[in-house]
Order: sequence, then structure tokens, then C-alpha cells
Amino acid sequence: MSQSLTLRRPDDWHLHLRDGAMLQAVLPETARDFARAIIMPNLVPPVVTAAQVTAYRDRILAALPQGMDFKPLMTLYLTEDTDADDLAAAHASDLITSVKLYPAGATTNSASGVANFDKVRGVLERMAEIGCPLCVHGEVTDADIDIFDREAVFIDRVLDPIRRATPGLRVVMEHITTRDGVDYVLAGGDDLGATITTHHLIINRNHILVGGIKPHYYCLPVAKREEHRLALRAAATSGRSRFFLGTDSAPHTDPNKESACGCAGCFTATNTMPLLAHVFEEDGALDQLEAFASLNGPAFYGLSANDTQITLTKSANPTVFPSKIDTDDGPVTLFDPGYPVHWSVT
Ligand code: DOR
Ligand code: ZN
Repeated sequence: MSQSLTLRRPDDWHLHLRDGAMLQAVLPETARDFARAIIMPNLVPPVVTAAQVTAYRDRILAALPQGMDFKPLMTLYLTEDTDADDLAAAHASDLITSVKLYPAGATTNSASGVANFDKVRGVLERMAEIGCPLCVHGEVTDADIDIFDREAVFIDRVLDPIRRATPGLRVVMEHITTRDGVDYVLAGGDDLGATITTHHLIINRNHILVGGIKPHYYCLPVAKREEHRLALRAAATSGRSRFFLGTDSAPHTDPNKESACGCAGCFTATNTMPLLAHVFEEDGALDQLEAFASLNGPAFYGLSANDTQITLTKSANPTVFPSKIDTDDGPVTLFDPGYPVHWSVT
């Protein structure tokens, strides 16, 4: 017996597409199910000027297979040298949808990010004036702060002071991983939203470490205790408008993941929508999946929801996903939830 669910076509409000051969291989995995995605700018070198954004957007569009409809929503990588006029012109012309803040050293290719937040105060004030949202990787990088506490400490020491100092700045807390993150969003107003990844709804830190280290479950911010995963599940399935899907699908080749110093990132582009249907069904909230994946994100960004639809179907047999996708840079392993999934996008 099969069951089906039709939704407005979803969008991904946080995605890594990379460049070159990797871009070519992973872009169709997202474009198959998603209409739009916020594209992360942490390339090597990072995408720090409007001219670089234009060139990167054009490479993405050139890599899109014929017949696929997909709109990349571009972001500018914030540095201590970002030119507010360049940013404002890129926003006014709709070249960029948001600006990305990486604390320097917080994650993959974040070395050019911000170390001294006073140096970006003027740019943030300009963004508040023009209504350009700030997407935030919310982790402090201080060596003396435990990696599992870095999100909560960032909220207290960095994010809350920035928001108080910059009234009107629209902020998206990216890939929240803690109850603290959920609570901070709930306490905020209409100018504060958060993305939640698919994998953080499924794994806690035990999945990474118990019974042997699982490099394909390692990402940043790292998955936390079970109580935090449950808080994320409650937030995502609540239908509340300021929580929305940002997969943070972040491809790295297997040699780069399965290494003595493995890269952070879970590759979920291929199976995100079936996994989300499983999660929402498990929590008795299938009726909220459209809000989370297709409606809340565009509403926060002041965009229309998509006109087209996708249908998810649940079958008696488990859905077979490839365990890896091939790229000319090497194989990329898909995120495996560790249980059979019966949903597929049909
Ligand atoms: O797990 C992650 N991977 N977290 C990030 O913040 C960056 C990303 C990447 O670029 O690989
Ligand atoms: Zn990311």
C-alpha cells in the first residue's frame, strides 16, 4: 500500500555546491528536488566581492543540466575588509540574497572570516538599513571553549551583542544544533530565523562516536546530545514560521572524510526530502513538512513560495539510494540515516 504527499516545491536555505568537477556532480542532486538554494561562498579562495559572486553564479548556471530549473540565491562572504558599497549594490541588483558571516577559523575555508567583530559594525549597520539578511555560522572559535558549547557561547558573547547593537538587522542562525539555539530563536522577533539541517534531526553525538568513529556523520557544528536533537525535532516539526530547512549538504570526497584529519560535512542533497518525510511522519507531523521545507524560508526572505510541486511517495519496500555519487574529484558518500527509508520523490 502506498501513501503520497504533495508539497510546494521545496528550497534549501543553506547549501554547499563547491566548484569545478564537484559542482558539476552535486548540482543535479539538489536541482532534482529543490527550486532554489542559498549558496555558501566558502570556496577557495572565498567569494568576497560582487564580481566574484557574478562569476560563481555564472559557473553554477553553466553547470546546470539542460531541462533542470534551479535558481541559485547567492551570498557574499563577509570579511573585515568587505566594502559596504559593493555589498549594497549587489543587494540592490538582486545579485545577492544574503551575506555570510563565518567567525575566522570556525569551519571549512573560514580563514578569511571575521575575527574582530568591531571591524564589521559599519557593514552590518548598512545591511540593516538596506534590509540585507545576515546568515551566521554561530560558533565561537576560542581554544578554551569546548566544541560542544561553542554554539551556546556564541549566542551570548557574539550574536546577542551584534543584534542589540544593530537594530533591524535580519539574522538567520544557520544549522542550529542546540536547545539554546531553538530557545534564542523563539525569544526573538520577526527579524530572527534559523535553518535546521536534515542530519541534525537524525543523529546525536553518540552516532558519531559509539562503536567506532563515523567520519560521514562529522560536520560542524558537530551534532550534540540527544536532548538537543529532540529540541530541533520539536522546532522543525512545529510549523513555526521562523524555522526552515537549510540542509548544509556539504560534499567532500571520501579520502578527505576518511582521514586522520577528516573534513566536516554531511552530503544530504540526494536523499534529504525522503529523510525529512520519514522524520516528520515519525513525529506525527507530515502536515508540517511543507511549512518547514517550502513555505517558511521564502516568507522569511520576503520571496514567494514556489508555484510548482513535488510528490513524495511511501512504498512498502525501502527506497534504494546510491551509497556514493561519483565525481571527477573522487567519490562522495551520501548521508546514511542508519535505518531503512520508505519515502521517495516521485
Ligand atoms: O560541516 C560543515 N561543512 N560545516 C560547515 O560549516 C562548512 C561545511 C563545508 O563547507 O564543508
Ligand atoms: Zn554550511
